[in-house]
Amino acid sequence: MKDINLPSNSKMLAQDFLFGVATSSFQIEGDRKGRLDNIWDTFCEKEGTISDSTNGDVACDHIALWREDVALIEALGVDAYRLSISWPRVMKQDGTVNEVGMQFYVNLVNDVIKRGMKVFVTLYHWDLPQYLEDNGGWLNRDTAYAFAKYAEAVAKVLGDKVYSFATLNEPFCSAYLGYEAGIHAPGKTGMANGRQAAHHLLLAHGLALKVINRLSPTSQNGIVLNFSNCHTTTNSEEDKRAAKLADDYHNQWYLQPIIEGKYPDVIDMLDADSKPEILEGDMEIISQPIDYLGINYYTRTLYQSDGKGWFEIVPPSNKVLTAMGWEITPDAFTDLLVELNERYDLPPIYITENGAAMDDTLDNSEVIDDARTAYFHTHLNAVNDAIEKGVDVRGYFAWSLMDNFEWALGYSKRFGIVYVDYDTQKRTLKQSALAYSKLVKSRINRYISGIK
Ligand code: FCB
Repeated sequence: MKDINLPSNSKMLAQDFLFGVATSSFQIEGDRKGRLDNIWDTFCEKEGTISDSTNGDVACDHIALWREDVALIEALGVDAYRLSISWPRVMKQDGTVNEVGMQFYVNLVNDVIKRGMKVFVTLYHWDLPQYLEDNGGWLNRDTAYAFAKYAEAVAKVLGDKVYSFATLNEPFCSAYLGYEAGIHAPGKTGMANGRQAAHHLLLAHGLALKVINRLSPTSQNGIVLNFSNCHTTTNSEEDKRAAKLADDYHNQWYLQPIIEGKYPDVIDMLDADSKPEILEGDMEIISQPIDYLGINYYTRTLYQSDGKGWFEIVPPSNKVLTAMGWEITPDAFTDLLVELNERYDLPPIYITENGAAMDDTLDNSEVIDDARTAYFHTHLNAVNDAIEKGVDVRGYFAWSLMDNFEWALGYSKRFGIVYVDYDTQKRTLKQSALAYSKLVKSRINRYISGIK
């Protein structure tokens, strides 16, 4: 078995640094009958949207198997579990709480806590109730207010239990992939849609954060954003400018409003009809202080100029790629964290997702996924390097606990450290899970012998 090692003096081996695993509701839960439909149910029913024509009806059957799954997480020895709540499972269309759905999460959260782990709850990991989409979804400002109501219902029940709330997971994906590029649910397209959805998502974050801070003042309340460094393959000034525009458009668009209360300058380049409608007071709501920033990181992205003053994506230049076709760029991860830290006045950071899809095979009850273990090794060390350079990172979550529904790619891509046989729902720890667990458990001896 390959190991994951950190330098023996790493701050990440101290007792207060959290190691965890992450999942999301639609990707693992199944039990569609137990909740209202969401935009992914509808999207999956459309021809040609999901590469293997699958859906989330069963997924990892987590609603039935959650006790075993929590026991598995505990057995890994991690400190925390990051999960998301399915909005259409806990809220009815009339705005009242679905008690059965809510109770599922109460039981789940209680059990994780009982086993000595902290719970990081994400309120929105992309599964918007379909009835809201029918009224425009994130293009409709009312959705932001509906989100705050949903957040209130959850915070009332879970507020005294969870360690952390995140309002949104990766609003970039919801807005850009879902409403601009059309490759995620609900499959809408166009810049005007994408920018408006992004603004309403950020507004939803701000409105919900206010409610959560009031009802759950002791938890760590923040948001989870994804970042991908925007690099060029040439040294041309035009390409560098294009990469900077891409960075503003895809990355800073979500962080700058939260930290500084304004969108990046690239907004001024948009046609009048592509600019989002921003009402008075919105930016103040969006830019309330957050207790922490969750960062999801997988890879860098390459760009060049499109010759018309804008940017276009370029295929990877590296030969070694993950099964997603993504470059493996741990140094860029360190750079990203250091650059964000230098540029903004940031709160503490949690790495809320990091991991890799690989072409796994289950052989004799074993999955020898050395490439994934190596990915974790280099990326954990990249986080360590960033900490050494002054970035305040407090925790790291591996994506994902187990293989699951990878959105438009269905079940064809496996990100888990635990292998899921979708025919039997049997879970098998991959070698990367064993290595991650070994690293996490190695800390115990240090605490006992007093090295901190
Ligand atoms: C992130 C998502 C997560 C998963 C990973 C691979 O963008 O938050 O649900 O799909 O990518």
